[in-house]
Amino acid sequence: MQAKSPEESKTILTDMVLPGETNPLNNLFGGELLARMDRAASISARRHSRRIVVTASVNHVAFNRAVPSGSVVTVEAKVSRAFKTSMEVFIDVWIEDRESGKKTKANEGIYTFVAVDATGNPIAVPELIPVSQLEKERFDAALRRKQLSLLLSGKIKPSEATALKALFE
Ligand SMILES: CC(C)(COP(=O)(O)OP(=O)(O)OC[C@H]1O[C@@H](n2cnc3c(N)ncnc32)[C@H](O)[C@@H]1OP(=O)(O)O)[C@@H](O)C(=O)NCCC(=O)NCCS
Repeated sequence: MQAKSPEESKTILTDMVLPGETNPLNNLFGGELLARMDRAASISARRHSRRIVVTASVNHVAFNRAVPSGSVVTVEAKVSRAFKTSMEVFIDVWIEDRESGKKTKANEGIYTFVAVDATGNPIAVPELIPVSQLEKERFDAALRRKQLSLLLSGKIKPSEATALKALFE
């Protein structure tokens, strides 16, 4: 399988926030934003693997800024690292100023997807080679995040989390 760059999986979803998607403060409801992030990230993982993909875990989401009703929201997803059958996807969320068009970062998230065959069994994905400085930083830290997620979900023992142990040595 030929290695791919993060750019090849780049996925951008731009949409408005409508009144039915808000909380009582008229800001975008968190679950609605998570769904938009999941959709963009899923397409990104599919573009990288060209397989059926399923969300394995949501490793991190930061709701740093509220997104008011009527905002134009852009969700940008790119695969940050591919392992054997799983892919980490970084999602950046931007809000666009109506008058200037300037985009401000509002939120971000990190999801993990697994490529599966038609019966739902995990299947190998192409390697990812990061290009930009940011892509390299995200790639380098992805193994720690994978091990932390596996540790928290009880799928590995602390002694197997080698990349995490290295942080404290
Ligand atoms: C995701 C799923 C395919 C993993 O199956 P599994 O039996 O745990 O398979 P494996 O143990 O072989 O793990 C497959 C890969 O997922 C990774 N993985 C599994 N759970 C993970 C987690 N919580 N965090 C990060 N990675 C995880 C494994 O490390 C492995 O990665 P690698 O092959 O790249 O090294 C399976 O749990 C599943 O189908 N879950 C339901 C998915 C779904 O329906 N999502 C939508 C939400 S409703």
